[in-house]
Amino acid sequence: MKGARGEGLAEALEAVVKVAEILGAPRLIKVVSAHISGISYRNLGVEGVEYLEELAEKGLRFAVPTTINPAGFDMERYGEMGVGVREHELQMRALKALARMGAQATLSCTPYLIYPPRFGDHLAWAESSAVLYANSVLGARSNREGGPFSVLEALVGRAPYVGLHTDEARKPSVVLDLRRIRDFVEASRSYSALGYLVGEVVGKGVPALHDPPGGLKEPGNLRVFLAAVGASSSIGMVLIEGISPEFTLSEGLERIEPEVSDLTEILESWRCEDFDAAVLGCPHLSPDELLDLANRLKGKTLRKPLFVFTSRWSAVVARAAVEKLRSMGVRVYSDTCMVVGNLSALGVHRCATDSAKAAYYLSSQGYKVALMPREALLEYVIG
Ligand code: F3S
Repeated sequence: MKGARGEGLAEALEAVVKVAEILGAPRLIKVVSAHISGISYRNLGVEGVEYLEELAEKGLRFAVPTTINPAGFDMERYGEMGVGVREHELQMRALKALARMGAQATLSCTPYLIYPPRFGDHLAWAESSAVLYANSVLGARSNREGGPFSVLEALVGRAPYVGLHTDEARKPSVVLDLRRIRDFVEASRSYSALGYLVGEVVGKGVPALHDPPGGLKEPGNLRVFLAAVGASSSIGMVLIEGISPEFTLSEGLERIEPEVSDLTEILESWRCEDFDAAVLGCPHLSPDELLDLANRLKGKTLRKPLFVFTSRWSAVVARAAVEKLRSMGVRVYSDTCMVVGNLSALGVHRCATDSAKAAYYLSSQGYKVALMPREALLEYVIG
């Protein structure tokens, strides 16, 4: 291969090899897909956008199917989101460059719903909630890659063969015995707070959840649980008994038994007496969740604004549900999310969410946040 394209690809490969060496990887492994995060104009800034444009200009193309995380605004409703001309232009330039390189404009953190990987597939994914889902639920293999590095991995179609790509790193490093908090979690439906707690007490490695609460089998609960693990730790995989295909327990592992007070401390830290709006969809709601939401709200009147974030794919699959939700006054947005978008431009400064990941990031952006189970949140919204 000659010219800028050949040089660009060689540089990308060199960078991936260099990182592999630093990480102590013996070789690179072919991946079947890549998922790039950090593609909102706020994350990228002008330099990030220009960098993507340079890569595309050189004629570089992603070597594997590549999806992308949420952008800074809804592509069709950005007028409602306080997006200026400059920001709009910057975001569109980034998306155009990514599309030129072959990225699918999924703009979602749930790529596994749209293009589910198979058991044993190696991936180069850079969205912690998606990586946790792929490893823990599907048995695919990805490390938690950084956004810029995932661009290079997508170009070369390879990742360093290290960490969760290897059998060794996928074994449990600690057992979490939930017997003391299981009933509390079920009764309060605090699956997302549980995920945050798991991340906090374990921090890294691969925790094995022995005898987990049955409610984790509900896909929506599982997704907010895993996203929260990713928010409070560097963990990329949780082995959940009855859910994870690779669940196993080995002798001699450290056991941790969290107490109810550990969980209530987390819930207490996200209390907010009153809020402007409720926000759902971190991670992006699935078509089933949209349908369920439309059914739950049927015939009810909203007494608080409700914002819902989902992928465009989910919104198309569950088109009728989205139309129903909108006709009830629910504000449904795609392509972006409550964290990378701008909630304050939507008039929200204090919000309630069912996602500890959202609570964590929104708090760090200065929002007042209440964390509560979806059922309680909806009760509050419809009164
Ligand atoms: Fe997805 Fe945004 Fe939450 S990317 S996991 S909705 S912070």
